[in-house]
Amino acid sequence: MAEWLGTLEDLAMNRMFWHTKKVFITGHTGFKGSWISLWLQLLGAQASGFALQPPTSPSLFDLGEVSRGMHSQIGDIRDLPALQSAMKREQPDIVIHMAAQPLVRYAYQNPVETFDTNVMGTVHVLEAARHCDSVRVVLCVTSDKCYENREWVWGYRENDPMGGHDPYSGSKGCSELVVAAYRRSFFSSERQDRHTAAIASVRAGNVIGGGDWAKDRLVPDALKAFMESRPVCVRNPHAVRPWQFVLDPLAGYLRLVEKLWDSGGAFAEGWNFGPGDEDARPVQWVVEKLAEFWSERASWQVAEGQHAHEAHYLKLDCSKAREHLQWKPRLSLTEALAWTVAWYRGFQDGKKMAILTKKQITDYEMLDRT
Ligand SMILES: NC(=O)c1ccc[n+]([C@@H]2O[C@H](COP(=O)([O-])OP(=O)(O)OC[C@H]3O[C@@H](n4cnc5c(N)ncnc54)[C@H](O)[C@@H]3O)[C@@H](O)[C@H]2O)c1
Repeated sequence: MAEWLGTLEDLAMNRMFWHTKKVFITGHTGFKGSWISLWLQLLGAQASGFALQPPTSPSLFDLGEVSRGMHSQIGDIRDLPALQSAMKREQPDIVIHMAAQPLVRYAYQNPVETFDTNVMGTVHVLEAARHCDSVRVVLCVTSDKCYENREWVWGYRENDPMGGHDPYSGSKGCSELVVAAYRRSFFSSERQDRHTAAIASVRAGNVIGGGDWAKDRLVPDALKAFMESRPVCVRNPHAVRPWQFVLDPLAGYLRLVEKLWDSGGAFAEGWNFGPGDEDARPVQWVVEKLAEFWSERASWQVAEGQHAHEAHYLKLDCSKAREHLQWKPRLSLTEALAWTVAWYRGFQDGKKMAILTKKQITDYEMLDRT
Protein backbone atom coordinates (compact mmCIF):
# COMPACT_ATOMS: atom_id res chain seq x y z
CA MET A 1 0.00 0.00 0.00
CA ALA A 2 2.74 2.45 1.01
CA GLU A 3 4.66 1.55 -2.17
CA TRP A 4 1.61 2.29 -4.31
CA LEU A 5 1.16 5.71 -2.68
CA GLY A 6 4.85 6.42 -3.20
CA THR A 7 4.52 5.75 -6.93
CA LEU A 8 1.58 8.09 -7.33
CA GLU A 9 3.35 10.75 -5.31
CA ASP A 10 6.39 10.53 -7.59
CA LEU A 11 4.24 10.89 -10.68
CA ALA A 12 2.35 13.83 -9.19
CA MET A 13 5.63 15.55 -8.41
CA ASN A 14 6.76 15.01 -11.96
CA ARG A 15 3.65 16.55 -13.38
CA MET A 16 3.87 19.50 -11.05
CA PHE A 17 7.41 20.09 -12.22
CA TRP A 18 6.83 19.67 -15.94
CA HIS A 19 3.52 21.35 -16.53
CA THR A 20 5.01 24.82 -16.09
CA LYS A 21 8.13 24.21 -18.19
CA LYS A 22 8.99 25.26 -21.74
CA VAL A 23 11.17 22.56 -23.29
CA PHE A 24 13.07 22.91 -26.58
CA ILE A 25 14.00 19.53 -28.08
CA THR A 26 16.43 19.10 -30.96
CA GLY A 27 15.87 15.89 -32.93
CA HIS A 28 12.17 15.69 -32.00
CA THR A 29 11.38 14.11 -35.40
CA GLY A 30 13.59 11.08 -34.63
CA PHE A 31 12.97 7.87 -32.73
CA LYS A 32 14.00 8.91 -29.20
CA GLY A 33 12.99 12.51 -29.85
CA SER A 34 9.43 11.48 -30.74
CA TRP A 35 9.10 9.33 -27.61
CA ILE A 36 10.37 12.09 -25.31
CA SER A 37 8.23 14.72 -27.06
CA LEU A 38 5.08 12.64 -26.54
CA TRP A 39 6.04 11.97 -22.94
CA LEU A 40 6.61 15.67 -22.25
CA GLN A 41 3.26 16.46 -23.87
CA LEU A 42 1.58 13.94 -21.56
CA LEU A 43 3.33 15.56 -18.59
CA GLY A 44 1.85 18.90 -19.63
CA ALA A 45 5.10 20.60 -20.67
CA GLN A 46 5.05 23.29 -23.35
CA ALA A 47 7.24 21.49 -25.88
CA SER A 48 8.85 22.79 -29.04
CA GLY A 49 11.20 21.05 -31.45
CA PHE A 50 13.91 21.80 -34.00
CA ALA A 51 15.13 19.07 -36.38
CA LEU A 52 15.39 17.94 -39.96
CA GLN A 53 12.45 16.07 -41.45
CA PRO A 54 11.90 12.61 -39.91
CA PRO A 55 14.89 10.46 -40.92
CA THR A 56 12.72 7.49 -41.95
CA SER A 57 9.42 6.73 -43.58
CA PRO A 58 7.30 5.54 -41.88
CA SER A 59 8.30 7.36 -38.71
CA LEU A 60 7.12 7.53 -35.13
CA PHE A 61 6.96 11.31 -35.57
CA ASP A 62 4.17 10.96 -38.17
CA LEU A 63 2.43 7.86 -36.77
CA GLY A 64 2.50 9.24 -33.22
CA GLU A 65 1.17 12.63 -34.43
CA VAL A 66 3.94 14.22 -32.42
CA SER A 67 3.64 17.66 -34.03
CA ARG A 68 0.02 18.02 -32.86
CA GLY A 69 1.11 18.64 -29.28
CA MET A 70 4.09 20.92 -29.85
CA HIS A 71 5.51 23.69 -31.98
CA SER A 72 7.61 21.81 -34.54
CA GLN A 73 10.25 23.65 -36.57
CA ILE A 74 12.14 21.97 -39.39
CA GLY A 75 15.75 23.15 -39.53
CA ASP A 76 19.39 22.15 -39.48
CA ILE A 77 21.54 22.39 -36.33
CA ARG A 78 24.53 23.05 -38.61
CA ASP A 79 22.87 26.38 -39.43
CA LEU A 80 23.68 28.46 -36.36
CA PRO A 81 21.61 31.58 -37.18
CA ALA A 82 18.50 29.46 -37.90
CA LEU A 83 18.93 27.50 -34.68
CA GLN A 84 19.58 30.65 -32.68
CA SER A 85 16.46 32.40 -33.91
CA ALA A 86 14.34 29.27 -33.38
CA MET A 87 15.49 29.00 -29.78
CA LYS A 88 15.08 32.73 -29.14
CA ARG A 89 11.52 32.57 -30.47
CA GLU A 90 10.63 29.81 -28.01
CA GLN A 91 12.41 31.25 -24.94
CA PRO A 92 12.71 27.78 -23.37
CA ASP A 93 13.54 26.97 -19.77
CA ILE A 94 15.08 23.65 -20.73
CA VAL A 95 16.93 22.42 -23.84
CA ILE A 96 17.19 18.70 -24.62
CA HIS A 97 19.67 18.12 -27.42
CA MET A 98 19.07 14.83 -29.24
CA ALA A 99 19.61 15.74 -32.91
CA ALA A 100 22.48 13.75 -34.35
CA GLN A 101 23.67 11.47 -37.11
CA PRO A 102 23.28 8.33 -34.95
CA LEU A 103 24.29 5.42 -37.20
CA VAL A 104 27.69 3.70 -36.95
CA ARG A 105 27.75 2.23 -40.47
CA TYR A 106 26.43 5.40 -42.14
CA ALA A 107 29.16 7.32 -40.31
CA TYR A 108 31.86 5.18 -41.96
CA GLN A 109 30.48 6.24 -45.35
CA ASN A 110 29.81 9.85 -44.34
CA PRO A 111 32.37 10.87 -41.70
CA VAL A 112 32.37 14.58 -42.55
CA GLU A 113 28.60 14.88 -42.22
CA THR A 114 28.71 12.85 -38.99
CA PHE A 115 31.38 15.01 -37.33
CA ASP A 116 29.73 18.18 -38.61
CA THR A 117 26.32 17.25 -37.21
CA ASN A 118 27.43 15.63 -33.98
CA VAL A 119 30.29 17.94 -33.01
CA MET A 120 29.57 21.35 -34.60
CA GLY A 121 25.84 20.71 -34.13
CA THR A 122 26.46 20.41 -30.38
CA VAL A 123 28.60 23.56 -30.42
CA HIS A 124 25.73 25.39 -32.12
CA VAL A 125 23.11 24.18 -29.64
CA LEU A 126 25.26 25.30 -26.71
CA GLU A 127 26.08 28.58 -28.42
CA ALA A 128 22.38 29.24 -29.01
CA ALA A 129 21.62 28.38 -25.36
CA ARG A 130 24.42 30.71 -24.21
CA HIS A 131 22.71 33.62 -25.93
CA CYS A 132 19.22 32.75 -24.75
CA ASP A 133 18.74 34.07 -21.22
CA SER A 134 15.63 32.01 -20.49
CA VAL A 135 17.59 28.69 -20.60
CA ARG A 136 18.39 27.24 -17.18
CA VAL A 137 19.07 23.59 -18.04
CA VAL A 138 20.69 21.93 -21.07
CA LEU A 139 20.80 18.16 -21.47
CA CYS A 140 23.01 16.81 -24.28
CA VAL A 141 22.43 13.25 -25.43
CA THR A 142 25.63 11.53 -26.52
CA SER A 143 26.21 7.75 -26.34
CA ASP A 144 27.92 4.93 -24.45
CA LYS A 145 30.28 4.88 -27.44
CA CYS A 146 31.85 8.16 -26.30
CA TYR A 147 34.27 6.23 -24.07
CA GLU A 148 37.70 5.03 -25.12
CA ASN A 149 36.85 1.34 -25.50
CA ARG A 150 39.58 -0.66 -23.78
CA GLU A 151 37.81 -3.92 -24.64
CA TRP A 152 37.79 -4.87 -20.97
CA VAL A 153 35.10 -6.55 -18.87
CA TRP A 154 34.48 -3.74 -16.38
CA GLY A 155 31.80 -1.14 -16.72
CA TYR A 156 32.85 2.34 -17.83
CA ARG A 157 32.40 5.11 -15.31
CA GLU A 158 31.57 8.71 -16.06
CA ASN A 159 35.15 9.80 -15.35
CA ASP A 160 36.78 7.34 -17.78
CA PRO A 161 38.54 8.91 -20.81
CA MET A 162 36.63 9.80 -23.95
CA GLY A 163 37.65 8.15 -27.22
CA GLY A 164 36.10 6.24 -30.11
CA HIS A 165 37.50 3.88 -32.73
CA ASP A 166 35.11 4.77 -35.55
CA PRO A 167 33.72 8.11 -36.82
CA TYR A 168 30.40 7.84 -34.96
CA SER A 169 32.02 6.94 -31.63
CA GLY A 170 34.71 9.58 -32.08
CA SER A 171 32.09 12.22 -32.87
CA LYS A 172 30.25 11.40 -29.63
CA GLY A 173 33.52 11.54 -27.65
CA CYS A 174 34.20 14.97 -29.23
CA SER A 175 30.67 16.08 -28.47
CA GLU A 176 31.30 15.27 -24.79
CA LEU A 177 34.47 17.38 -24.84
CA VAL A 178 32.48 20.26 -26.35
CA VAL A 179 29.89 20.01 -23.56
CA ALA A 180 32.60 20.01 -20.88
CA ALA A 181 34.40 23.00 -22.41
CA TYR A 182 31.20 25.04 -22.73
CA ARG A 183 30.18 24.18 -19.19
CA ARG A 184 33.51 25.31 -17.72
CA SER A 185 33.95 28.35 -19.96
CA PHE A 186 30.51 29.84 -20.34
CA PHE A 187 28.03 28.42 -17.85
CA SER A 188 30.01 28.32 -14.61
CA SER A 189 27.91 29.01 -11.53
CA GLU A 190 30.94 30.69 -9.94
CA ARG A 191 30.93 33.52 -12.48
CA GLN A 192 28.05 35.87 -11.79
CA ASP A 193 28.79 37.90 -14.92
CA ARG A 194 28.05 34.86 -17.08
CA HIS A 195 24.92 33.06 -18.08
CA THR A 196 24.34 30.36 -15.49
CA ALA A 197 22.68 27.24 -16.77
CA ALA A 198 23.24 23.68 -15.57
CA ILE A 199 24.56 21.52 -18.42
CA ALA A 200 24.76 17.73 -18.33
CA SER A 201 25.48 15.01 -20.85
CA VAL A 202 23.85 11.59 -20.91
CA ARG A 203 25.28 8.33 -22.22
CA ALA A 204 23.05 5.38 -23.01
CA GLY A 205 23.50 2.30 -25.17
CA ASN A 206 21.34 0.49 -27.73
CA VAL A 207 17.74 1.37 -27.07
CA ILE A 208 14.81 -0.58 -28.42
CA GLY A 209 11.14 0.19 -28.72
CA GLY A 210 8.35 0.73 -31.19
CA GLY A 211 8.65 3.28 -33.96
CA ASP A 212 12.30 2.79 -34.90
CA TRP A 213 12.85 2.28 -38.64
CA ALA A 214 16.55 3.13 -38.77
CA LYS A 215 18.69 1.11 -41.16
CA ASP A 216 21.25 -1.38 -39.80
CA ARG A 217 19.75 -1.59 -36.32
CA LEU A 218 18.86 -5.11 -35.29
CA VAL A 219 15.35 -4.64 -33.90
CA PRO A 220 13.92 -2.50 -36.73
CA ASP A 221 15.68 -4.71 -39.31
CA ALA A 222 14.13 -7.82 -37.73
CA LEU A 223 10.63 -6.43 -37.44
CA LYS A 224 10.66 -5.03 -40.97
CA ALA A 225 11.69 -8.48 -42.22
CA PHE A 226 9.04 -10.27 -40.14
CA MET A 227 6.33 -7.92 -41.38
CA GLU A 228 7.39 -8.72 -44.95
CA SER A 229 7.48 -12.48 -44.16
CA ARG A 230 11.19 -12.89 -44.97
CA PRO A 231 14.14 -13.96 -42.79
CA VAL A 232 16.18 -11.20 -41.18
CA CYS A 233 19.92 -11.12 -42.06
CA VAL A 234 22.06 -10.81 -38.95
CA ARG A 235 25.66 -9.58 -39.20
CA ASN A 236 27.25 -10.69 -35.91
CA PRO A 237 25.00 -13.24 -34.14
CA HIS A 238 27.47 -13.80 -31.29
CA ALA A 239 28.19 -10.14 -30.57
CA VAL A 240 26.98 -9.24 -27.08
CA ARG A 241 25.30 -5.84 -26.75
CA PRO A 242 23.62 -4.04 -23.86
CA TRP A 243 19.92 -3.56 -24.72
CA GLN A 244 17.33 -1.41 -22.97
CA PHE A 245 13.79 -0.19 -23.49
CA VAL A 246 13.65 3.33 -24.93
CA LEU A 247 11.66 4.76 -22.00
CA ASP A 248 14.25 3.59 -19.44
CA PRO A 249 17.01 6.05 -20.36
CA LEU A 250 14.40 8.73 -21.16
CA ALA A 251 13.01 8.38 -17.62
CA GLY A 252 16.57 8.94 -16.37
CA TYR A 253 16.97 12.03 -18.57
CA LEU A 254 13.74 13.57 -17.25
CA ARG A 255 14.72 12.82 -13.67
CA LEU A 256 18.13 14.38 -14.25
CA VAL A 257 16.59 17.54 -15.70
CA GLU A 258 14.44 17.90 -12.57
CA LYS A 259 17.57 17.62 -10.42
CA LEU A 260 19.52 20.04 -12.62
CA TRP A 261 16.69 22.53 -12.24
CA ASP A 262 16.48 22.20 -8.46
CA SER A 263 20.15 21.75 -7.57
CA GLY A 264 21.95 23.19 -10.61
CA GLY A 265 25.71 22.69 -10.73
CA ALA A 266 25.78 19.67 -8.41
CA PHE A 267 24.30 17.50 -11.17
CA ALA A 268 25.92 19.26 -14.14
CA GLU A 269 28.22 16.52 -15.41
CA GLY A 270 28.14 13.28 -17.44
CA TRP A 271 25.70 10.46 -16.53
CA ASN A 272 25.46 6.84 -17.63
CA PHE A 273 22.08 5.19 -18.19
CA GLY A 274 22.58 1.57 -19.19
CA PRO A 275 20.82 -1.75 -18.66
CA GLY A 276 21.64 -4.25 -15.93
CA ASP A 277 24.33 -6.88 -16.62
CA GLU A 278 21.68 -9.53 -17.18
CA ASP A 279 20.37 -7.57 -20.18
CA ALA A 280 23.62 -7.68 -22.12
CA ARG A 281 22.78 -10.49 -24.55
CA PRO A 282 24.05 -11.86 -27.85
CA VAL A 283 22.36 -10.64 -31.02
CA GLN A 284 21.21 -14.21 -31.70
CA TRP A 285 19.37 -14.40 -28.36
CA VAL A 286 17.56 -11.13 -29.09
CA VAL A 287 16.56 -12.08 -32.63
CA GLU A 288 15.28 -15.46 -31.48
CA LYS A 289 13.16 -13.82 -28.76
CA LEU A 290 11.76 -11.34 -31.29
CA ALA A 291 10.91 -14.20 -33.65
CA GLU A 292 9.26 -16.14 -30.81
CA PHE A 293 7.09 -13.12 -29.86
CA TRP A 294 6.23 -12.31 -33.47
CA SER A 295 5.15 -15.68 -34.91
CA GLU A 296 6.25 -19.23 -35.63
CA ARG A 297 7.07 -18.27 -39.19
CA ALA A 298 9.60 -15.56 -38.24
CA SER A 299 13.21 -16.61 -38.96
CA TRP A 300 16.77 -15.30 -39.31
CA GLN A 301 20.02 -16.04 -41.15
CA VAL A 302 23.64 -14.91 -40.98
CA ALA A 303 24.48 -12.12 -43.44
CA GLU A 304 27.35 -12.89 -45.80
CA GLY A 305 30.37 -10.67 -46.47
CA GLN A 306 32.84 -8.45 -44.65
CA HIS A 307 31.46 -6.08 -42.05
CA ALA A 308 32.91 -2.82 -40.83
CA HIS A 309 34.57 -2.86 -37.42
CA GLU A 310 32.08 -2.38 -34.63
CA ALA A 311 33.46 -1.98 -31.14
CA HIS A 312 33.14 -4.95 -28.82
CA TYR A 313 30.73 -4.92 -25.94
CA LEU A 314 31.05 -1.78 -23.88
CA LYS A 315 29.38 -1.92 -20.49
CA LEU A 316 28.26 1.13 -18.54
CA ASP A 317 28.63 1.41 -14.78
CA CYS A 318 25.42 3.15 -13.72
CA SER A 319 26.07 3.32 -9.97
CA LYS A 320 25.98 7.12 -10.04
CA ALA A 321 22.49 7.37 -11.55
CA ARG A 322 21.27 4.64 -9.23
CA GLU A 323 22.68 6.34 -6.14
CA HIS A 324 21.99 10.01 -6.89
CA LEU A 325 18.91 9.85 -9.11
CA GLN A 326 17.39 6.65 -7.72
CA TRP A 327 17.22 5.53 -11.33
CA LYS A 328 17.23 2.00 -12.64
CA PRO A 329 15.70 0.28 -15.67
CA ARG A 330 12.08 -0.71 -15.09
CA LEU A 331 11.71 -3.28 -17.88
CA SER A 332 13.77 -6.45 -18.27
CA LEU A 333 15.04 -7.16 -21.78
CA THR A 334 12.40 -9.84 -22.29
CA GLU A 335 9.64 -7.37 -21.33
CA ALA A 336 11.20 -4.67 -23.50
CA LEU A 337 11.15 -7.01 -26.50
CA ALA A 338 7.54 -7.98 -25.79
CA TRP A 339 6.46 -4.30 -25.61
CA THR A 340 8.40 -3.59 -28.82
CA VAL A 341 6.80 -6.48 -30.70
CA ALA A 342 3.37 -5.39 -29.40
CA TRP A 343 3.99 -1.93 -30.87
CA TYR A 344 4.91 -3.25 -34.36
CA ARG A 345 2.05 -5.73 -34.22
CA GLY A 346 -0.31 -2.80 -33.56
CA PHE A 347 1.23 -0.96 -36.50
CA GLN A 348 0.75 -3.94 -38.80
CA ASP A 349 -2.84 -4.33 -37.62
CA GLY A 350 -3.58 -0.70 -38.54
CA LYS A 351 -4.08 0.51 -34.95
CA LYS A 352 -3.99 4.22 -34.13
CA MET A 353 -0.31 4.46 -33.20
CA ALA A 354 -0.54 7.81 -31.39
CA ILE A 355 -2.91 6.18 -28.91
CA LEU A 356 -0.92 2.96 -28.61
CA THR A 357 2.35 4.85 -28.07
CA LYS A 358 0.87 7.10 -25.39
CA LYS A 359 -0.65 4.03 -23.72
CA GLN A 360 2.80 2.45 -23.51
CA ILE A 361 4.11 5.64 -21.89
CA THR A 362 1.35 5.71 -19.26
CA ASP A 363 1.74 1.96 -18.64
CA TYR A 364 5.45 2.54 -18.16
CA GLU A 365 4.81 5.38 -15.72
CA MET A 366 2.68 3.09 -13.60
CA LEU A 367 5.48 0.53 -13.19
CA ASP A 368 7.01 0.64 -9.77
CA ARG A 369 9.76 3.26 -9.59
CA THR A 370 11.67 1.86 -6.65
N1 LIG B 1 18.88 4.81 -30.76
C1 LIG B 1 19.89 4.38 -30.05
O1 LIG B 1 20.05 3.15 -29.81
C2 LIG B 1 20.89 5.35 -29.46
C3 LIG B 1 21.90 4.86 -28.63
C4 LIG B 1 22.81 5.77 -28.06
C5 LIG B 1 22.70 7.12 -28.33
N2 LIG B 1 21.71 7.56 -29.18
C6 LIG B 1 21.64 9.01 -29.41
O2 LIG B 1 20.31 9.47 -29.15
C7 LIG B 1 19.99 10.55 -30.03
C8 LIG B 1 18.71 10.24 -30.80
O3 LIG B 1 18.93 9.06 -31.56
P1 LIG B 1 17.77 8.37 -32.39
O4 LIG B 1 17.99 6.91 -32.33
O5 LIG B 1 16.46 8.92 -31.96
O6 LIG B 1 18.12 8.86 -33.88
P2 LIG B 1 17.15 9.26 -35.10
O7 LIG B 1 17.96 9.14 -36.33
O8 LIG B 1 15.88 8.52 -35.03
O9 LIG B 1 16.85 10.78 -34.83
C9 LIG B 1 17.83 11.77 -35.06
C10 LIG B 1 17.16 13.13 -35.03
O10 LIG B 1 18.16 14.11 -35.30
C11 LIG B 1 17.70 14.92 -36.37
N3 LIG B 1 18.85 15.42 -37.12
C12 LIG B 1 19.84 14.73 -37.71
N4 LIG B 1 20.71 15.58 -38.30
C13 LIG B 1 20.24 16.84 -38.04
C14 LIG B 1 20.68 18.15 -38.38
N5 LIG B 1 21.79 18.36 -39.08
N6 LIG B 1 19.94 19.19 -37.94
C15 LIG B 1 18.80 19.01 -37.24
N7 LIG B 1 18.33 17.81 -36.91
C16 LIG B 1 19.05 16.73 -37.30
C17 LIG B 1 16.81 14.03 -37.22
O11 LIG B 1 15.96 14.79 -38.04
C18 LIG B 1 16.09 13.31 -36.09
O12 LIG B 1 15.07 14.15 -35.58
C19 LIG B 1 21.22 10.75 -30.91
O13 LIG B 1 22.04 11.73 -30.34
C20 LIG B 1 21.91 9.40 -30.86
O14 LIG B 1 23.28 9.48 -31.15
C21 LIG B 1 20.80 6.70 -29.74
